[in-house]
Amino acid sequence: MHRLAAITSIILSVLPVIWSGSNPYEHEPYRPLGPLVKCTFLPLEFLECDEPYDHKGNYTAKEAAGHGCVKYGGVYYKDVEITKAQCKVFDGIECFGIRSFLRDGFPCVKYSGHYFTTTLIYSILLGFLGMDRFCLGQTGTAVGKLLTLGGLGIWWIVDVVLLITNRLHPEDGSNWNPFV
Ligand SMILES: *[C@@H]1O[C@H](CO)[C@@H](O)[C@H](O)[C@H]1NC(C)=O
Repeated sequence: MHRLAAITSIILSVLPVIWSGSNPYEHEPYRPLGPLVKCTFLPLEFLECDEPYDHKGNYTAKEAAGHGCVKYGGVYYKDVEITKAQCKVFDGIECFGIRSFLRDGFPCVKYSGHYFTTTLIYSILLGFLGMDRFCLGQTGTAVGKLLTLGGLGIWWIVDVVLLITNRLHPEDGSNWNPFV
């Protein structure tokens, strides 16, 4: 009889856990010295995160949403917008609390396959044909440079200097690709 009562009580204590599904610890108070880390404290390796939302230049929309990107790019760290993105803890990772949340610290930068080294080589070797500016997507000035044969050499040199001093960037606002 005692045994039956014990088994019943075990089943009754386990059932809510089974019913509540995903997170059996959701309704328990957090124990800082317990074995579980808060889900929001997990490093990125344990999370699946969306890209920050692109508000496409609409500041009002960003204010309304409270997060996301308005402006992309920036050469220096302080110029780059940092925002929040939606993250979800990978299934199978145990942690405490809500498993899907907004996480801070995502930079608003885009890469579209522009390499600094490649562009610089173009600029030095083929600058008189405007190849560097064609590659960066600055078609208008590129045509001008081509027709004037690199501003008779002056524009050719100026653009090499602009590139080295970080004042000539891809037209679409993307950053230099970090590899190569
Ligand atoms: C910007 O976003 C707001 C709020 O979502 C919207 O009402 C407004 O029409 C948008 N403005 C532009 C220029 O798209």
